[in-house]
Amino acid sequence: MKKSGKTLAVLFTFLMACAGIMTLTQCEKTPPMLGKTDPNKVIAAMTLEEKAALVVGTGMILPAGFSGTTDVAEKSGDAATPVAAEIKELVSGAAGTTYSVPRLGITAMVLADGPAGLRINPTRTGDTNTYYATAFPVGTLLASTWDTELVLKVGEAMGNEVLEYGVDFLLGPGMNIHRNPLCGRNFEYYSEDPLVTGKITASMVKGIQSQGVGATIKHFAANNAETNRMNLDTYVSERALREIYLEGYRIAVEEAQPWAVMSSYNKINGTYTSESYDLLTKVLRDDWGFKGLVMTDWMGGSDPVAQMKAGNDLLMPGNTTQSDKIIAAVKDGTLDEKVLDNNVARILNVQQKTPRFKGYAYSNKPDMKAHADVARKAAVDGMVLLKNSEKALPFKEGTKTIAAFGNTSYDIITGGTGSGNVNEAYSVSLVDGLKNAGYTVNEDLIKIYDAYITEGKKNLPATGFFETPKTVPEMDVTGAVAGKMARASDYALITIGRNSGEGNDRSSGEGDFTLTAAEKKMISTVTDAFHKAGKKSIVILNIGGVIETASWRDIPDAILLAWQAGQETGNCIADIISGKVNPSGKLASTFPIKYEDVPSSGNFPGVVLDTAAEDAGNIQAATTAGPPPSKPSEIVYKEGIYVGYRYYDSFKVAPSYEFGYGLSYTTFEYGNIRLGIDASRKPALSVDVTNTGDTAGREVVQLYIGAPSGKLEKPEKELKGFYKTKLLAPGEKEAVTFVISQRSMASFDAATSSWVAEKGRYRLILGASSRDVRQETYFDNVNDVTLKTESKALTLSRNIEVEKE
Ligand code: BGC
Repeated sequence: MKKSGKTLAVLFTFLMACAGIMTLTQCEKTPPMLGKTDPNKVIAAMTLEEKAALVVGTGMILPAGFSGTTDVAEKSGDAATPVAAEIKELVSGAAGTTYSVPRLGITAMVLADGPAGLRINPTRTGDTNTYYATAFPVGTLLASTWDTELVLKVGEAMGNEVLEYGVDFLLGPGMNIHRNPLCGRNFEYYSEDPLVTGKITASMVKGIQSQGVGATIKHFAANNAETNRMNLDTYVSERALREIYLEGYRIAVEEAQPWAVMSSYNKINGTYTSESYDLLTKVLRDDWGFKGLVMTDWMGGSDPVAQMKAGNDLLMPGNTTQSDKIIAAVKDGTLDEKVLDNNVARILNVQQKTPRFKGYAYSNKPDMKAHADVARKAAVDGMVLLKNSEKALPFKEGTKTIAAFGNTSYDIITGGTGSGNVNEAYSVSLVDGLKNAGYTVNEDLIKIYDAYITEGKKNLPATGFFETPKTVPEMDVTGAVAGKMARASDYALITIGRNSGEGNDRSSGEGDFTLTAAEKKMISTVTDAFHKAGKKSIVILNIGGVIETASWRDIPDAILLAWQAGQETGNCIADIISGKVNPSGKLASTFPIKYEDVPSSGNFPGVVLDTAAEDAGNIQAATTAGPPPSKPSEIVYKEGIYVGYRYYDSFKVAPSYEFGYGLSYTTFEYGNIRLGIDASRKPALSVDVTNTGDTAGREVVQLYIGAPSGKLEKPEKELKGFYKTKLLAPGEKEAVTFVISQRSMASFDAATSSWVAEKGRYRLILGASSRDVRQETYFDNVNDVTLKTESKALTLSRNIEVEKE
């Protein structure tokens, strides 16, 4: 970079001064400025109070809707008290800001949610400009794309809004494992599988950070339930942790080096994650080489001093009690100031990369049109066609009129609630999407639904930030109405909607995991009427997480899993059902036949214990007198490593739709499997994938490895690679190659704390899903190989049965 004449003059004066014109003492008094001098000198020049303020955020202004519920109390307490004289909300609606020390060149950092796009206030008092952000599709949809290049583009667009709205860190992506379909935040997360989770996260992080802003992967770790989330103690074996719950984080850290990791609210094996030296230092930094900073989830943990010692550098949103405790601990010798200096150093290290530190002049005008296009492309890529009897889809030529049933056809759900929600400028409903695509939507039915929904909404209670919005129940669609619509329309679309968000888990009952009687009746009545008229019915699932499908999936002609696809949802559904785009999404989590089939159904969301005493030190408990005794406070991961398809396949439990499943308007053939050696002399497995149908399409090719049981028990098979082909024209072929690394054959042996590829015969399976095996071969590993020994960490703090018997 060219130095201006003015800068050179200042530099010259300074050097001259130090050369003798000024005294040495005067020179030393010029405070060291971050970015210009060794950061250690900056730290040495900080007062203890400044250090303690830097590792604690400046408080927060609570979002609208924070009143009256227990979860609100969870977020309030004294945490809104600023560290400084006032809460520094540099960007309206951001979740937090860090402390600045102007005399040392330390600028503030602004942190804002979340995983589906930037969450800030769209309007500001006394300002006519707007600050809307793009609502991208939710995590479950993004993972269903299996398309790391596309997710990178989503990350770039999201990161660009972060940059252009003056924010330094995005509080996303979220990446916990879908252990159980009822976790209220599954929509923010990706998959039941750690490889999909890790690879999709790594792409997202790279995309976000390509814009010069930070990504924050969260919530680290084993935060797989929301019920009583600030007090839940998770008991899980070292092997399940390493192979399932930590593995995605490892991949993301090693491949993408996120600027930040957010520790979670829960405890693991008796210790809050934000206070766990094992997790934040031994595993994250020593084993994986993480270089960034760790922040708490908002008001997470209980002991600021323990958090510093564990390596949790930043306490968010921050309050003066925390900084006071840190100061006192240094003064009384219970916290070595060197530990605090390390926390500070890690914050300053990342801080120097932020746009605010660099003085970036943000525009507040990102290219919203370009980002909407990215959101639309991504959403279409991740919708999953679950059923398509007799080519019911795409709409046949000449289709004109569509009858849209179901409240969510009109009131589309673009994303989940809580901090994962985005304030977008508009959203496209299914009806609007169909109209935009040139179809006529049955006006009589629109009128009926408009009147019904408007009336129904009058009776709905207002919902708080941590509550899932109540919805109008589906109307009783009579045979007469359905018959009338069938005569006047070419197709029936029936939308089923579900929503959820942080602070609550979903229920396994009707209206959530299972359909209500009215929903089931709607599907059958409408389908009957349309069949009688020689026409077809299509169910659209506008949901964020897994639901029950087995009891009704035989009724409609087709089922499209649209997920919560962001602001363009309606347009994207229209793109697929019209045939403009051939669906290519596949499931990244299993749809079980019934909830009781889920391996963790017996221990979710945990057991109720009397924890009042245990939680006395918790910030939340200190201000709300502890969790109500009816809330579960301990959860034991009894299923061990058998999560998702690892369980269903190993224990021969048939799912409704399996992991990796998804239909296309075309067909693919896999042929010519061959095992060779690649340029780096590693075994490489190749296969030719040919489009054998008559429509261009893309296929997600999946590599599973079945390891031999040796000293360690192994799941039937595990995903070890995936690749989404380019758009293949009919008849076109693409050769796909996977390198078989030793790591992909290894399991974690807790006895030696190492990854071991045991000797024996490994099945190498290429599939179109976890159960649709297309080609198979094997590989013999002649010796036991120990790959990497990890820190001994996160052992069980008491004798508890965690593995499946
Ligand atoms: C959520 C985090 C979020 C934070 C800031 C917490 O309640 O768990 O995911 O980033 O709030 O809004």
